[in-house]
Amino acid sequence: MKQHLAGALAALLLAAAPALAGTPVTVDTTKPGPQISRHIFGQFAEHLGTGIYPGIWVGEDSKIPNTRGIRNDVVTALKAVKVPNIRWPGGCYADDYHWRNGIGAKDKRPSTVNYLWGRVAESNHFGTHEFMDFIEMIGSEAYVSGNVGSGTPQEMSDWLEYMTADPAISSLARERVANGRKEPFKVPIFGIGNESWGCGGSMTPEHYANLYRNFATFARNYDNAQQLPNGDFDPNGMKRIASGANVDDYKWTEVMMEASTKQIFSWTLDGLSLHYYSGYNQWPPHYSGEGFGEDEYAHVIKSAYKMDELVTKHSAIMDKYDPKKKVILAVDEWGTWYTAAKGSNPRFLQQQNSQRDAIVAAVTINIFTRHADRVRMANIAQMINVLQAMILTEGDKMVLTPTYHVFKLYVPFQDATFLPVQYDAGTYTFNGVTLPALDVTAAKGKDGKVYVSLTNINPKAPAEIDLAALGLKAKGAKGETLAAPKIDSINTFDNPNVVAPKAISAKAQGGKLVLKLPPQSVTVVALD
Ligand code: AHR
Repeated sequence: MKQHLAGALAALLLAAAPALAGTPVTVDTTKPGPQISRHIFGQFAEHLGTGIYPGIWVGEDSKIPNTRGIRNDVVTALKAVKVPNIRWPGGCYADDYHWRNGIGAKDKRPSTVNYLWGRVAESNHFGTHEFMDFIEMIGSEAYVSGNVGSGTPQEMSDWLEYMTADPAISSLARERVANGRKEPFKVPIFGIGNESWGCGGSMTPEHYANLYRNFATFARNYDNAQQLPNGDFDPNGMKRIASGANVDDYKWTEVMMEASTKQIFSWTLDGLSLHYYSGYNQWPPHYSGEGFGEDEYAHVIKSAYKMDELVTKHSAIMDKYDPKKKVILAVDEWGTWYTAAKGSNPRFLQQQNSQRDAIVAAVTINIFTRHADRVRMANIAQMINVLQAMILTEGDKMVLTPTYHVFKLYVPFQDATFLPVQYDAGTYTFNGVTLPALDVTAAKGKDGKVYVSLTNINPKAPAEIDLAALGLKAKGAKGETLAAPKIDSINTFDNPNVVAPKAISAKAQGGKLVLKLPPQSVTVVALD
């Protein structure tokens, strides 16, 4: 019944022009903006709960279909969303991680305690080689997070030498070859610690800025093909990302950016991170991931919009020290954070993913596209079974979440060129919470087509849109819409297609395309 309703709603889309005019939305193709980096669609896989075991790794002997221990179903699903980079091994876990525990024969690897995330056993069976194998299987890039909090510059430098050096001159590289990998691994992005103000070492910004300089000096990519020339931003070189602010800690950004102007030797600050989670105003999180009403919906979407304020204010500080915008604002943890799913270990951060999460994802991605000049990396937290997950697994079963479908809809926005959009659709208000009724972004894809994403935030009413494009005579549009019977609709293992995209198309009439967007929906169309 629910599926039937969703299908009916989707079928209402892009109907022929009705007599009454809708909200005008105009895409200006004559004023292209910056490139939307594909890296804003990055993912995050931490050794936390069931995210890695068995979300990715089931082991070679598992009955769950796998390739060299890595689940085939998950690899296939991730390939389809063209994941540009994956951040690993944490998160907080990164500052507890010692890379040597995760190399060599699996039966010789030590079992360690994952202290922060439930004090459970960490087999270390998913280590550097397994992560890189996974990255290569799905055609992604590695964003490796180094340990500052409990590690040393030498440990960090050795790990990079192990991963990237030439075996002809490095015995660490020869160890890598003995462990099965001749060619250097590609490490295009490297994080210097995580949340160093908190789980990563409880540091002041001044202390971390000094440590950053120290660690970054020794965080070297040893592969000539991947090296960053001293002091210069090389788009093909390894980017070093500093641990950044917690939400609105603007002082942290100020201190780090000021430090970045005092470079003397060969360290660089290529990116500064920012972490922000939607769905709670104060710790602990109090909204549920399922079975909620319109009030919780409105509050969570409101909190997602805070991202715009955060990015604007952090960017303004960065502009002061770096007007050429060389340093990336890397929002390398974002997403919803709700109360733990019933019956789950609260430290495993497991939660349901509903149509509300799809709206949060679309709204947040749209914010990033509007700040594409500075936000050139972002990582949703997290990829599988943790927080705002793309994928949920249980035994040999896998389900794609509404968030996954949004990422799939947005694939054409990867490395596309931002196009300005004009619209005023008014507001939607519930119980004193006021939100924009509609959220639109547009881009010219690498294939030359104009793509428009339209999110109807209002869960009570469809939105009628008169879409036009300046500088382009659109003959029609084709795309997909993600609608749902209810705002808290979820996909389950037994009913995996409650929230699934449906094809849509329209022909232009009188110079405009008329679209009827279902309530609480995300639509992406390409103009012909
Ligand atoms: O994503 C879960 C945790 O949230 C990460 O480990 C940490 O960096 C953040 O506090």
